[in-house]
Amino acid sequence: MSIHYQNVVPWGRSLQEYVDMFSLTDEDLDKSILGCGDGPASFNCEMTRKGRSVVSVDPIYSLDRAVIEQRIDETYTEVLEQTQENQDKFVWESISSVEELGEIRMSSMKLFLGDFENGKEEGRYIAGGLPELPFDDNSFDLALVSHLLFLYSEQLSFEFHLQAIDELLRVANELRIFPLVDLNSRKSIHLDEVIDSLLSRGLLVSEKKVNYEFQKGGNTMLVIMNS
Ligand SMILES: C[S@@+](CC[C@H](N)C(=O)[O-])C[C@H]1O[C@@H](n2cnc3c(N)ncnc32)[C@H](O)[C@@H]1O
Repeated sequence: MSIHYQNVVPWGRSLQEYVDMFSLTDEDLDKSILGCGDGPASFNCEMTRKGRSVVSVDPIYSLDRAVIEQRIDETYTEVLEQTQENQDKFVWESISSVEELGEIRMSSMKLFLGDFENGKEEGRYIAGGLPELPFDDNSFDLALVSHLLFLYSEQLSFEFHLQAIDELLRVANELRIFPLVDLNSRKSIHLDEVIDSLLSRGLLVSEKKVNYEFQKGGNTMLVIMNS
């Protein structure tokens, strides 16, 4: 049995998970941050409550709150069912069961839903998507991409990955991507080729171990910097 989603699913993680996935230090959290593909994560909401600055960009932000909520509800059952059938692909330590996973994710997504309309008015949730982002060059210090690139290697091509990374490095000085495995916890088929291509163009690229592993073997992030 393997995990397969027709499209990229809306699914949301917390600030603490972002801190762990991207090894974010206090200094990092003070930077101007772009969360690309943040979807219904509570990262932006929780950061804002702490007085910090994040702009999130995602195609679903063009939808009304009620429609996003409906999409989350539709996705929720499917994701939990597929996770249940593929439990061997995950590390059940900090999250100990499929039920707990559902509760944790839903509490993050509820925080997001409560914050969405306000945040949209304040310009913290911007509708848009890779490979073209609605921002000027060098708008951010740091761009974070969680659970989109490399994870959806089957749905997103090698060319898309390269275009997306170029675009993210146009708008931000540094880019971190997590995880580097696909939906079935296998190393992304695009990873080596993407790294080779970036290195050959003189970009600074490194794969770094992080203190987070839910998908088995998904415990590294890719850090890319404009040289
Ligand atoms: C699995 S969710 C991850 C959400 C969040 N980053 C997290 O880790 O909790 C993937 C998100 O990517 C968004 N997405 C899909 N295609 C995108 C694109 N071309 N550009 C930016 N975001 C995209 C989806 O709308 C969805 O919200």
